Amino acid sequence: MKKLQSLFIMIALFVSLFVSCNQKQTSGGDQQMNAFINDLMGKMTLDEKLGQLNLPASGDIITGAGSNNNIVDKIKEGKVGGLFNIKSAEKIHAVQQIAVEQSRLKIPLIFGMDVIHGYQTVFPIPLGMSCSWDMALIEKSARIAAQEASADGICWTFSPMVDIARDPRWGRFSEGSGEDTYLGSQIARAMVKGYQGDDLRKNNTIMACVKHFALYGAAEAGRDYNTTDMSRIRMYNEYLPPYKAALDAGAGSIMASFNEIDGIPATGNKWLLTDLLRKDWGFNGFVVTDYTGILEMVDHGMGNLKEVSALALKAGVDMDMVADGFLGTLKQSLNEGKVTQQEIDQACRRILEAKYQLGLFEDPYRYCDVNRAKSEVFTPENRQVAREIAVQTFVLLKNDNQVLPLQDKKTIALVGPLADNRENMPGTWSVAGDFGKSVSLLDGLKNALGDEASILYAMGTNVVSDPELDARISIFGKPTKWDNRSQKEMVAEAVAAARKSDVVIAAVGESAEMSGEASSRSNIDLPENQKELLAALLATGKPVVMVLFTGRPLTISWEKANVPAILNVWFAGTEAGNAIADVLLGKVNPSGKLSATFPQNVGQIPLYYNHKNTGRPLAEGKWFSKFRSNYLDVSNDPLFPFGFGLSYTSFDYKNLKLSNPELTINGELKVSVDLTNSGNYDGAEVVQLYIRDMVGSVTRPVKELKGFQKIFLKKGETRTVEFALTEKDLKFYNSELKLVSEPGDFKVFVGTSSANTLEAGFVLK
Ligand code: NOJ
Repeated sequence: MKKLQSLFIMIALFVSLFVSCNQKQTSGGDQQMNAFINDLMGKMTLDEKLGQLNLPASGDIITGAGSNNNIVDKIKEGKVGGLFNIKSAEKIHAVQQIAVEQSRLKIPLIFGMDVIHGYQTVFPIPLGMSCSWDMALIEKSARIAAQEASADGICWTFSPMVDIARDPRWGRFSEGSGEDTYLGSQIARAMVKGYQGDDLRKNNTIMACVKHFALYGAAEAGRDYNTTDMSRIRMYNEYLPPYKAALDAGAGSIMASFNEIDGIPATGNKWLLTDLLRKDWGFNGFVVTDYTGILEMVDHGMGNLKEVSALALKAGVDMDMVADGFLGTLKQSLNEGKVTQQEIDQACRRILEAKYQLGLFEDPYRYCDVNRAKSEVFTPENRQVAREIAVQTFVLLKNDNQVLPLQDKKTIALVGPLADNRENMPGTWSVAGDFGKSVSLLDGLKNALGDEASILYAMGTNVVSDPELDARISIFGKPTKWDNRSQKEMVAEAVAAARKSDVVIAAVGESAEMSGEASSRSNIDLPENQKELLAALLATGKPVVMVLFTGRPLTISWEKANVPAILNVWFAGTEAGNAIADVLLGKVNPSGKLSATFPQNVGQIPLYYNHKNTGRPLAEGKWFSKFRSNYLDVSNDPLFPFGFGLSYTSFDYKNLKLSNPELTINGELKVSVDLTNSGNYDGAEVVQLYIRDMVGSVTRPVKELKGFQKIFLKKGETRTVEFALTEKDLKFYNSELKLVSEPGDFKVFVGTSSANTLEAGFVLK
């Protein structure tokens, strides 16, 4: 009897040890959650488990090749884990009701959406947001986005997109934070904090999904979905840190990218999704594919749907977006021994954990409160914040003779294809926006000026001159408003308006859908017909202010040389027009700084500030030297460098000081500079700190951003701005992919852009 008892005790101990090991591996040790999920999974059939891994599109918005039928039947059968891009609390409530009342185990669905830069209150496109260099504001925008989305049924957003991009031909440049690893990592963190808050269970926080893992922004030739090929050392030092930063900030999920890495699509890449993500980084959340990502591995040449679905599961994918590969084939693969029950259980557990963490099992309707949706979405308060954020994202690229801000102008000619176009103001990936309710520049100027000035509006030209191209860039409810009149007639009308005016505001650039997914361009000039309009306006002799709408850096060398003032406004969201008017009229002094280099021409691409020196660098100040790393026909200089942006006032940098010429491993080095607002307006300046590691076991970039502060100064005011550097800031991945710092000489630079800094040196001991 005693023997039997101790046998029982041993078995019990063994079982509990086994269960707790298993739980620790999968869930981070939340005992209650594990008990709940163990119990639930104990009741689930194989089909129901596979159902949790299935994420079909709702049908409201479909990109790519997928389509879905009989979704309701599938939900009833427990064959759907979640849905995405359905809009409205009512609709989501109704669909959730089917899941929790008519499916056998009543497991709630998770509802996702591309809430990329705001929900119904649309904030500037992410590239614009990154030019604010203001982490508190970026976090606030994500907080408001979460507040609105969660009121309307959404509990999961496919954001932040943290892909480093250095090729502005790539249309999705607009969706990220530009070219820099450090800035991108800070923004990744701020966004996750904004979305998820401190408790995912609250009804106004939503789960983030960092994307696109990984390297999606490095598509060859900037052509969307194209091959990427990169050394590990570059990945680790330059491209991977923003994903890691988002996960370290607690992002609950991650999306595999479309591209291949080392010859294996990310969706089926075990090194990426398991070795790096799970084992090295310790990520506990779930991995979802991108839209039809599994199916696309067939075209990548990785096998048939059954084979690539097994490949994806084994690589570490938990949820299949739209491909129907997991639901359709994994059962057979299990029977054939191609995948294991444990692999399926693992993925299912992770999806259920996410639902548990969101509190969906407690209350499946917690995110669809129709009353909240009525009172918390698109509120005047949120729109006001959108306006305050938008003004921080504009980058003043040129302002000769202080054309801006506009003062005492009685008659203003407002011309250009983007001047009176509300629908295009939100920019790309603004799926929940009500585009017609955005404020155009014409609206904004009228709101600001009332009867104080008269505005003469003329469209001047179309966005592009080719009607077929126009159709391609007029999609998703954002028409360019093609005008059938001839170019000559439209330009003549604009010139006539200009002649009668004191100043001309030319609203030119790209339409919203000229950037974004599948919107790569091989020529990133301003369209020729728009240049013609600008030339005609300049010929009137009136001062011309170019308000540039764009989702990417553009090659605007001619415009820089000829137009006296250029304000880059990206796509500023719902409140675009009011915000642009605030800046043009001087109510707000612009302070945005570029988060990506503007090249002189496409031939220079990729052009980024933190490049390597090479063995044959061009001497500073030189345009060309034979047998040096340069071009015959264009200098190495950017048109506008990373970190650049003017203000209506001027800032002087003096007295760069280091607290010590040496930094020790456990020490701290204070770097300070005196910043003076030496101009005539109050204003904010983004003070930037860069370093250079002079000698390394591997080559190091010529400059790397390691700190920044946005400082507001009254005119005439001086402040000492201080940064603290530690050994940690000097670390990088060496050739063994170990994160190290190496003693030796460093330079430190502080200044107004990556190309205009004061400089000092120190030694790491
Ligand atoms: C495809 C895009 O690549 C991704 O960013 C997006 O989240 C999904 N579609 C879902 O709409």
